Amino acid sequence: MANIIKVLKGTKDILPQDVEKWHFVEENALKVFSSFGVKEIRTPIIESTDLFQRGVGETTDIVNKEMYTFEKSDRSITLRPENTAGVVRSYIENGMHRLPAPVKLWYKGPMFRYERPQAGRQRQFHQVGVEMFGVSQPSADAEIILMAENFLKSIGLDDLDVEINSLGCPKCRAVFKENLKNVIRPYLNDLCEDCQSRFEKNPLRLLDCKVPTCQEIFSKPEIQKVITSDFLCDECREHYIQLKKYLDELNVKYSENKHLVRGLDYYTRTVFEIKSNNLGSQNAVCGGGRYDNLVSELGGEPTPAIGFAMGMERLISLLKEKESSKLDGYIVSNDTTEALKLAQELRLQGLNIEIDLTNKKFTKQLEKASKLAKYAIILGEDEIKENKVSIKDLSNGNQVSAERSECIKWIEK
Ligand code: HAM
Repeated sequence: MANIIKVLKGTKDILPQDVEKWHFVEENALKVFSSFGVKEIRTPIIESTDLFQRGVGETTDIVNKEMYTFEKSDRSITLRPENTAGVVRSYIENGMHRLPAPVKLWYKGPMFRYERPQAGRQRQFHQVGVEMFGVSQPSADAEIILMAENFLKSIGLDDLDVEINSLGCPKCRAVFKENLKNVIRPYLNDLCEDCQSRFEKNPLRLLDCKVPTCQEIFSKPEIQKVITSDFLCDECREHYIQLKKYLDELNVKYSENKHLVRGLDYYTRTVFEIKSNNLGSQNAVCGGGRYDNLVSELGGEPTPAIGFAMGMERLISLLKEKESSKLDGYIVSNDTTEALKLAQELRLQGLNIEIDLTNKKFTKQLEKASKLAKYAIILGEDEIKENKVSIKDLSNGNQVSAERSECIKWIEK
């Protein structure tokens, strides 16, 4: 026998028994995002490597270690590790700044990151996300967080924690970074390798390091004093205060987390995550924030923007088990031609119908019907002669005789 080829590490098949949950999540995304006036966009899975280098940032783990990049005809191409950069590219390329603001776009689809696979972390995973362009006011931040929460509630996830923080603008953040480096520098040699290598280029990322010895160092009073300091400039502080007021008015429960810095370079001001206690260490179902400089950094007109993305595998792992939906009818007959014809009639009327294609015994067919369908539609010799069917309700065993043309009425009852 030939060798079996297995699925690649960090990737997964989505099997028929799970796919209904995916449809459920996707349908709710369409419903909830449409209720906020958001339109769907589908961008390519492959993009120029530059897009992510410039968009996501050279100092991030994603760009440094995790991208699937390859050469084709002397071009460097990357499988998208996230979709904010792609949507921004499309916004610019298609002149969407000429549309009335805000331009609100949502997407769903696979993303690729060469990470160490573990529960809740894959190399090919799926995101559903929203990006909103053209509003600098904190009302947009509030609407985006509310939208994320409405969507999560629509799929039955209401036991989640919303965390927010403000990273300020490049100006006020620069001072904060310097202050942070100054208090951490004396402990540099005691920090983990990642923290040491991030110290110069991306010191904010030190704040979300999970290594206990680093966390212990960062809990020292002189370091905490800087981390918890109010470093925001007047405009950034006002933006953050106003966002919190909106969230309070909207009854969105949140906590402030000064250690929330996010792993992508494009954020300005508001960042947020939504976490679950039931996911283990990879507990973020949603991450997002404002990125007011990205559109201009990628060559577009200066345009404020904010958005979020959610990991679909993580959402789906939190959904309650659902009974998989049944066929409307299973035709039980030993006349394959008649069964095929009736199935065709009913399918064209919108019902989901299966038949036995192998002419098994009646009893076997009935057994299968009771597993798969809501109704058994029995088409025996007598029924065929009289142009009738017997319809058996498989939930209670009740059976009726009906005209063949009336079949749909009984099943839809
Ligand atoms: P992110 O935090 O990198 O943000 O990813 C968002 C969500 O995608 C995470 O909270 C998590 O649920 C899921 N996720 C990320 N990596 C993996 C993985 N390896 N396996 C499974 N799930 C994963 C972004 O991607 C930004 N583009 C979000 C955004 C949109 N910010 C503004 N607009």
